[in-house]
Amino acid sequence: MKGIVLAGGNGTRLYPITKGISKHLIPIYDKPMIYYPLSVLMLSNIREILLITKPEFVGLYNNLLGNGSEWGIEISYMVQEDPKGIADAFVIGEKFIGKDNVCLILGDNIFYGQGFSPILEKASKKNNGAVIFAYYVNNPQEFGVIEFDEDFKAISIEEKPLNPKSNYAIPGLYFFDNSVIAKAKKLNPSDRGELEITDLIKDYLKEDKLYVQLLGRGFAWLDTGTYDGLANATDFVRTIQKRTGLSIACLEEIAYRKKWITTDQLIKTGKEYEKTEYGTYLKNIVKEDVKK
Ligand code: TTP
Repeated sequence: MKGIVLAGGNGTRLYPITKGISKHLIPIYDKPMIYYPLSVLMLSNIREILLITKPEFVGLYNNLLGNGSEWGIEISYMVQEDPKGIADAFVIGEKFIGKDNVCLILGDNIFYGQGFSPILEKASKKNNGAVIFAYYVNNPQEFGVIEFDEDFKAISIEEKPLNPKSNYAIPGLYFFDNSVIAKAKKLNPSDRGELEITDLIKDYLKEDKLYVQLLGRGFAWLDTGTYDGLANATDFVRTIQKRTGLSIACLEEIAYRKKWITTDQLIKTGKEYEKTEYGTYLKNIVKEDVKK
């Protein structure tokens, strides 16, 4: 399975913060926003990752992430000139995806909750159809909304409905089989001029190949697209990290625990970041392992 992080867009709801920089490079507490979606792909055991962003930002992402070898993954880059829609990622990424299945995550989505890794591993092993998620929110009209029947089977999908049929929003994380490329190429732009991810999902629903995984109320799905969303996400990450002493979306830790990088690589990054709590955290991971 391949992974795509979609990190284009104009970020207009965060102006002036995002006038000169890509939204996904700004910090959520102690690390750049892009680390969070990357961690989700890594937890899904996806190691070949395409990052799609605007042309003017490719160099900045390359400075930060390089080819991904620091975390034992392979990152490549492609551009989306204008925000033509989320489903455009599969048209842009056609060659990269090749004959594989693909997971798409939006660059501004943050997930945190117990049991997330097994959920991701299960979703990534599904060979046929689509796996999406559902999350209960109090503002469903701002998202793609999914309606269920009494057996919790999906019956309709609507993009930003004025009168939502449920409170279940669809987070920006999707697992698709390879037919997504052909489906995306057939889409027509919506009234707002975008290739809509909800239209793709509807295609799978019509084929009876849509699987919806509920993310329950103990789960956090944070959207960072507004000032308050950004501040809330930073508060959330800071609070959890301080309370537990465990880092959220620490790419080095994930790579190390999956044995994608060596102890030496982890120590090297720990030294590079030695003036920070992030660096101390990395060094402590190694010490803990020695104790075991
Ligand atoms: P949006 O929130 O729809 O757009 P945006 O982030 O540019 O923000 P704004 O509304 O403030 O202008 O996008 C959600 C995520 O998807 C975000 O991470 C950007 C990304 N995206 C793209 O990369 N390309 C696209 O064509 C679209 C629609 C979104």
